[in-house]
Amino acid sequence: MGGTVNPLRVGVVGAGTISAQYSACLQRLPQLRVTAVSDLSAERAGALAAEHEGARVLELPQLMAADDVDVVLNLTLPRTHAEIALQALAAGKHVYGEKPLAMDVAEGRGVVEAAAAAGLRVGCAPDTVLGTGVQTARAVVDAGEIGVPHSATAFMTTPGHERWHHFPDFYYQPGGGPLLDMGPYYITSLVHLLGPVERVVGVSWRPSPTRTIGRGPRAGESFEVTTDSSTAGILVHASGAVSTLVMSFDTWAARLPRIEVHGTGGSLSVPDPNLFDGTVEVYSAASAPEPGPGADHEANWRDAGVRAGYLDAGRGYGLADLAVALGEGRAHRASDEVALHVLDVMESVQRAAATRGSVELTTTCERPEAIASPVDLTAAAVGA
Ligand SMILES: NC(=O)c1ccc[n+]([C@@H]2O[C@H](COP(=O)([O-])OP(=O)(O)OC[C@H]3O[C@@H](n4cnc5c(N)ncnc54)[C@H](O)[C@@H]3O)[C@@H](O)[C@H]2O)c1
Repeated sequence: MGGTVNPLRVGVVGAGTISAQYSACLQRLPQLRVTAVSDLSAERAGALAAEHEGARVLELPQLMAADDVDVVLNLTLPRTHAEIALQALAAGKHVYGEKPLAMDVAEGRGVVEAAAAAGLRVGCAPDTVLGTGVQTARAVVDAGEIGVPHSATAFMTTPGHERWHHFPDFYYQPGGGPLLDMGPYYITSLVHLLGPVERVVGVSWRPSPTRTIGRGPRAGESFEVTTDSSTAGILVHASGAVSTLVMSFDTWAARLPRIEVHGTGGSLSVPDPNLFDGTVEVYSAASAPEPGPGADHEANWRDAGVRAGYLDAGRGYGLADLAVALGEGRAHRASDEVALHVLDVMESVQRAAATRGSVELTTTCERPEAIASPVDLTAAAVGA
């Protein structure tokens, strides 16, 4: 990793809010070069293209047909993720897209199968899991420092996006909710740390029938809640480990950890999986204090340091990993296979909640290859 690279030529579709974070990374990653941008708004497309030397604005069909686009970076809204991915694959181009891979598993499977048939790659966010936070946590687990991992907890709690978002209705409609919105970060992290999931149970609920917008032109306006705003799930991994998941838009304050992993020889605290870095802490059973009134368990948590993962990473590093993987002929880490499995976990938790049952997953995936040391992707030399 980090040798000479020929940049993959990127056609960006969707120049909205999240494209700014991608643009900043794409400017510093030698593995990638933006050559074209398309958006329903020519103004937004033009502004993004202006940030990349030589990039031009194209209508979507022209971008799909362009000879100087190797990969389509799909930053449109979830309902068009699969449609645009299929168009790109049909045009002979690789695809990398924002999460989720598709609106449901059936649609996502279509994308995965089309990519396999065409011999092309599909990658999917989140790539936060490739940063030093989750990768260092993975290094701790893989080194056996907490013994055999047997369980994890993952909590995402917030009072709700309507407090700051000007148009928050979609978060409370079918297709929204905390599980689909934030679940990809947490569940993808659990897959990296503990491997694929075999079976789930779930419960979901909505404590408030309406929500009230806090800011913007509609401040004070209430709207109806038509999907559950809190979800709890239990994920049984193929390894036998069990993860407990709580995703909530109904929690005013919580002193809960984001993700913790527990093993036979210790425990591990994982930083916010919506970010690329953060402090990983390890509690080792070997140095645990003797039980008793003076036992200082807090002092036994140690900073693991930065041991692995892409340094100073941001959104777009998953696409750079795909570019490197193509050159090296290896699997890319932020893969369609992982994204489809994560989608299946979320859909299955929802189905379990709706049926009061336990749901067996129909997909699985390989645990993506670890990034075993800290890697600076910006240090690669550019080839022809
Ligand atoms: N906003 C965030 O903080 C955030 C964070 C992480 C992930 N995401 C994900 O990123 C994706 C995009 O979110 P966003 O917040 O940037 O949305 P957005 O609405 O700000 O931007 C989407 C852009 O896509 C364009 N677009 C839609 N359909 C198109 C088409 N057919 N052809 C060309 N352009 C098209 C729109 O005109 C718009 O400019 C979503 O999947 C979201 O889940 C967003």
